[in-house]
Amino acid sequence: MADSKTAKLLINNAEFELPVLTPTVGPEVLDIRKLYGQADVFTYDPGFTSTASCDSTITYIDGDAGELWYRGYPIDQLAAKSHYLEVCYLLLYGELPTADQLHDFESRVTRHTMVHEQMHYFFRGFRRDSHPMATMVGVVGAMSAFYHDSTDIGDPWQREVAAIRLIAKLPTIAAMAYKYSIGQPFVYPKNELDYASNFLHMCFSVPAETYHVDPALARAMDRIFTLHADHEQNASTSTVRLAGSSGANPFACIAAGIACLWGPAHGGANQAALEMLREIGTVDNIPEYIAKAKDKNDPFKLMGFGHRVYKNFDPRAKVMKESADEVLDLLGVHNNPTLQVAKELEKIALEDEYFIEKKLYPNVDFYSGIILEAMGFPTSMFTPIFALSRTVGWIAQWKEMIGDPQNKIGRPRQLYIGSLKRDYIDIETR
Ligand code: SDX
Repeated sequence: MADSKTAKLLINNAEFELPVLTPTVGPEVLDIRKLYGQADVFTYDPGFTSTASCDSTITYIDGDAGELWYRGYPIDQLAAKSHYLEVCYLLLYGELPTADQLHDFESRVTRHTMVHEQMHYFFRGFRRDSHPMATMVGVVGAMSAFYHDSTDIGDPWQREVAAIRLIAKLPTIAAMAYKYSIGQPFVYPKNELDYASNFLHMCFSVPAETYHVDPALARAMDRIFTLHADHEQNASTSTVRLAGSSGANPFACIAAGIACLWGPAHGGANQAALEMLREIGTVDNIPEYIAKAKDKNDPFKLMGFGHRVYKNFDPRAKVMKESADEVLDLLGVHNNPTLQVAKELEKIALEDEYFIEKKLYPNVDFYSGIILEAMGFPTSMFTPIFALSRTVGWIAQWKEMIGDPQNKIGRPRQLYIGSLKRDYIDIETR
C-alpha cells in the first residue's frame, strides 16, 4: 500500500501533515493514527460513516456502483457459478480452490458437522419458546467450553480447527435451535449430503418418515448462504474484530457477532421485513406505510430498505429477487400475496422522491424472508440462517486481524460532554 501522498491539517494555527493511504480500489484513506499524539485532538465519527477501521483483502463493496466482490470475484458470478463451501474456501484462503483442495476442504468440514453430545443437554436449559437467536448466542459462546483444544489464538493450527468447526457446526446448531423450539427431536447431520442439503435435512426431517431433499431447494438454500457470506466491516463483523482484538477465543467472538447481527437494523431486518410485509397485507395498504416511513415523527422504517453503503442498489437483493420467483414457482406458490406486496412496495418506493432523495433501495433482507418462508422456515429462523451464512465471513475477517502484525486491542476514545470534576456531597446535605 503506497503511502507517499500526504494531507495537511491546520488546527489551532498549527499545521500537521498526515499520510494518505492508497487502496487497490475505492476511496483513499487519511491515516490519523498519529494525530492525537501530534495534535492532541481526536476525530469524531460515532456511526463510523467516514472511518476505515482496518485494511483488508477479503471483501470490496462499491455502494454507488452496486458492486460486491469476495476476494475480487463479483457476487453475481459466485451466486451463479460457485457454491457455498467453495466460497468459504475463497473467503478463508484468498483463492478459488483446485478440485483436490475443494474435496479436502469439503471432507474436513463434513467431518466436523456433529456437535459434542453433551450439547444436546445444554439446549435443555432453554425454554422451548426461546428465540433461536438467543439459543444460538448461548450455544455458540458455550462452544469454548466444549472445544478447549481450538481456543489458543496464538496457535495457527488451533485457529484453523476453530474455523472449520464453526463453519461445520453452525448449521447443526441452528437446526437444533429450530427443532428444540418446535418440540421435535434433534436430527444428526448426514455425511453423504452436501452442506445445504444437510441443513434442510436437519431442519425438516423427522424420525417417523424418510425426508428427501429437493436438489433445487438445496441449490436455492446454498445460494442464500453465499449471498450472506461476508460484507466488509458491517456492524457484526466489526463486533467480531473488536472482540477478537482483546484476544478472546474465536467461539466467544462469533457469539458476539451473532448477538450484534440480531438487531433489527442489521441481520434482524429479514424477520422484521417479512413481518412488515405481512402487516401491510395487501397492495392497497402500501401508501399508508410509505407515508409512515416518510414521517419524521413516526419511528416506522421500511424494513429491508436502505443501507449504509449501497446508495444505488444492493446486488444481493437483485439475485435474491430472481431467486424468489424461481423458488416460489418450484414450490407451486403462485400469486404469493407477500411477494406481490413486496414487488409493488419496491416499485412505489423507488418512484417516490423521498426514497430517491435518500437513496433508499431494497437490501439483502427485503426478499430473503419470502424465500425462506416459502421453504417452510418460521420468521424466527431467518436471522439464524443469516448468522450461519455469515460465520465464514466473520471468521475470515477474525483470522485476517489475528494474523496482522499491526493488530492491537481496539480502544476508541470519546468527545466528553459530561460534568467537570466536583466534590462528593453527603446525602444529608443533598
Ligand atoms: C444489513 O452494513 C452492512 O453491510 C449490513 C448488511 C450486511 O450484509 O452485513 O448489509 C446487512 O444489515 C442490511 C440492512 C438491514 N436493515 C434494514 O433493512 C433496517 C431498515 N434500514 C434502516 O434502519 C437503515 O437504512 C440502515 C440501518 C440499514 C442504514 O442506516 P444509516 O446508514 O445509518 O442511514 P440513516 O439511518 O442515517 O438513514 C439516512 C436517512 C434517514 O433520514 P434523515 O435522518 O436523513 O432525514 O434515510 C432514512 C433515515 O430516516 N431511512 C429510512 C430508511 N432507512 C433510512 N427511512 C425509511 N425507511 C428506511 N428503511
